[in-house]
Amino acid sequence: MIITLDGPAGAGKSSAARALAARLGWCYMDTGAMYRAVTLVALERGIPLDDSPRMAALAEQIRIDFRAGRVLVDDRDVSTEIRTARITAATRPVADAPPVREAMKRIQRRMAAGLDIVTEGRDQGSVVFPQAEVKVFVTASPEERARRRHREEEARGSGMTLADVLAAQAERDAGDRCRAVGAMRAADDAVILETDGLTPEQVVDRLVALIEARRGPRGPA
Ligand code: C5P
Repeated sequence: MIITLDGPAGAGKSSAARALAARLGWCYMDTGAMYRAVTLVALERGIPLDDSPRMAALAEQIRIDFRAGRVLVDDRDVSTEIRTARITAATRPVADAPPVREAMKRIQRRMAAGLDIVTEGRDQGSVVFPQAEVKVFVTASPEERARRRHREEEARGSGMTLADVLAAQAERDAGDRCRAVGAMRAADDAVILETDGLTPEQVVDRLVALIEARRGPRGPA
């Protein structure tokens, strides 16, 4: 069974996806981390990020794994490196390139084949797994998302103000919504989950309830 969680950054999607996969004992795929990982390796190897055929080929060459909450590229743990501001900025145009998105779609379908999996991103329910049994678009108000992201930035000591975070977020959202291929949008049959005022545990509870409603009542234990 496949559950897709799409939505903007800061809506609580990633932590919910990870916690949900852990609670269900299912696999987990963070597709944003995949775009980030390809970008990181391209920078290390001197591959021009705007050479989208080479970038797509690179995506096919490297092996990305999600293990125990970490992101591995060819068995190297890149979890921290892919989250820097430099990689965040460099990844955006890479993720806009149609050949890269095509390659990612193939890879993501291959990785999910035959598994019970929680997959998260921007286009998982709308493009990559249109047949997914449960599709959720996780969102929250811009202010709530910015407050959450600002708390993370403060913890990292980045010095960004709430206004900086809001401005960067608005720019990023516009880019995600407007890309020609794979734009962020809720699939027509997605459930919209607003997370304003919900704790992470409550978000996971709602997701579990959606899955159970889809699977039908469980038999006796
Ligand atoms: O979610 P995260 O911030 O890690 O995503 C990294 C980058 O990859 C973002 O620029 C996002 O727009 C892009 N992305 C994408 N399609 C996905 C997941 C992420 O284009 N399915």
